[in-house]
Amino acid sequence: MSVKVSTSILAADFANLSLECSKIDKSNADWFHLDVMDGLFVPNISFGMPVVKTIRQLTKKPLDVHLMIVEPEKYVTEFINLGSNIITVHIEATNNLNQIINKIHESSLKAGIAINPETPISDLKEYIEKVDLICLMGVNPGFAGQKFIESTTDRLKELKQLIISYGSNALIEVDGGVNKDNFQNLKSNGADVLVAGSYIFNSNDYDTAINTLKL
Ligand code: DX5
Ligand code: ZN
Repeated sequence: MSVKVSTSILAADFANLSLECSKIDKSNADWFHLDVMDGLFVPNISFGMPVVKTIRQLTKKPLDVHLMIVEPEKYVTEFINLGSNIITVHIEATNNLNQIINKIHESSLKAGIAINPETPISDLKEYIEKVDLICLMGVNPGFAGQKFIESTTDRLKELKQLIISYGSNALIEVDGGVNKDNFQNLKSNGADVLVAGSYIFNSNDYDTAINTLKL
């Protein structure tokens, strides 16, 4: 089965955001991956609600919103109302994950949990049966264009086993450092969704880059 590709807009040319989004909208990419950063949970500030709202107007494809913010419970309703389809919060960012997942599900959206490279996979156990997606970070969150951390592959195998052992339907999304050299390995070890930013936006031909990841 082909993986889904979720295109990280963080690496796009924001001076031409409308054109960039239109290219992705017409491509075989499955989702738009929107990286919201607050400068607190991660050492970088990206964009927030106005940009999510704008991109919602530029595509009908699902918006896969990755919140890298502290206290996500304060903002989740707003991201629901902006037209997100999948909302992912970090396990490290809150003590109210159950409440957040419930709120997302009450609005019939998909709920995801993102996990940083240093956080044990076993921490996901208590949530694995109720979430729709686990976003396994392949880099420390904060910036596009970082090198893939190789130990992510072992973590991916562990996560896949955890999902199988609990009979969970959660999709595994790998985020950060995905490119043409590692996507096959990620796919064969259980990745269902590949997030890619730089690999797509630094290429000369977005369609070819996206189609390569879907091979
Ligand atoms: C990292 C973000 C990623 C990143 C992916 O903090 O969550 O989504 O933008 O970009 P690349 O594919 O360039 O690593
Ligand atoms: Zn992301």
